[in-house]
Amino acid sequence: MKLLGLIGFPLSHSFSKKYFEQKFCEMNLLDFSYQNFELKNISEISNLISQLPNLQGLNVTIPYKKEILNYLTDIDSDAKKVGAVNTLKIFEKKIIGFNTDIFGFRKSLTSFLDEKFDSKALILGTGGAAKAVAFVLQELKMKFYFVSRGIKNEKTILYSEIDKQVIENHRLIINSTPVGMFPDVEKFPLLPYEFLTSQHFLFDLIYNPEETKFLELGKKYFCKTKNGLQMLHYQADKSFEIWNS
Ligand SMILES: NC(=O)c1ccc[n+]([C@@H]2O[C@H](COP(=O)([O-])OP(=O)(O)OC[C@H]3O[C@@H](n4cnc5c(N)ncnc54)[C@H](OP(=O)(O)O)[C@@H]3O)[C@@H](O)[C@H]2O)c1
Repeated sequence: MKLLGLIGFPLSHSFSKKYFEQKFCEMNLLDFSYQNFELKNISEISNLISQLPNLQGLNVTIPYKKEILNYLTDIDSDAKKVGAVNTLKIFEKKIIGFNTDIFGFRKSLTSFLDEKFDSKALILGTGGAAKAVAFVLQELKMKFYFVSRGIKNEKTILYSEIDKQVIENHRLIINSTPVGMFPDVEKFPLLPYEFLTSQHFLFDLIYNPEETKFLELGKKYFCKTKNGLQMLHYQADKSFEIWNS
């Protein structure tokens, strides 16, 4: 049996296990299994790997995408640039880190935006997912600011600085925070939503719930919206490709 899985804490929001089980079934891969491993501390990873000799790969989710860097024997160059890893390939005592959120987000974003889209973007959050999003926007030569609760610098503004003009000048807003994710589905990022228009694109990396309050509020102001489900599927498929290469 080839064992794959997901580490993080908590994992109740995650659809990865369901997605992989369905994929194995569709591909008739009877010798593959995908399990969730809720780790209260990332230091538990070493024990987990040594106890499971048939473990070939893991996905990594919140809150460990950065902390996992300390446990790798090698890292893919893009994952290193982003400073976050969501996929581990495990073999012969090696643990190699990759970031397939980059691939997943790029593919999902480019199918969402009009070809002629030429506005700047706001990336809400400054965590691992936000860094992968920023990497993609840089590749696409799109200008952006991070938005943070506490960090203010050349590349990062505070939520309190977002006014009508900022919203008008940034027609792509990407929620890369866990705000609004199951079970806290009533929460939403603190933005002046009333300045949004039909020219705005709201992308939420969250996929559970299917429509977050962030997207619901965007729709109220006629924005185009997209959740993180397609990105999840694309990044999962890329992880599977890495595990089997
Ligand atoms: N669809 C997909 O395939 C996919 C892939 C990756 C991630 N995700 C989702 O993306 C989200 C972020 O993931 P992550 O790994 O980057 O998480 P993370 O490392 O925990 O970072 C999230 C960032 O969000 C901000 N934040 C955290 N709590 C907040 C709060 N209560 N209010 C406002 N901002 C808050 C923080 O930035 P500041 O402290 O600077 O404000 C933090 O750095 C999660 O919901 C995750 O499930 C989805």
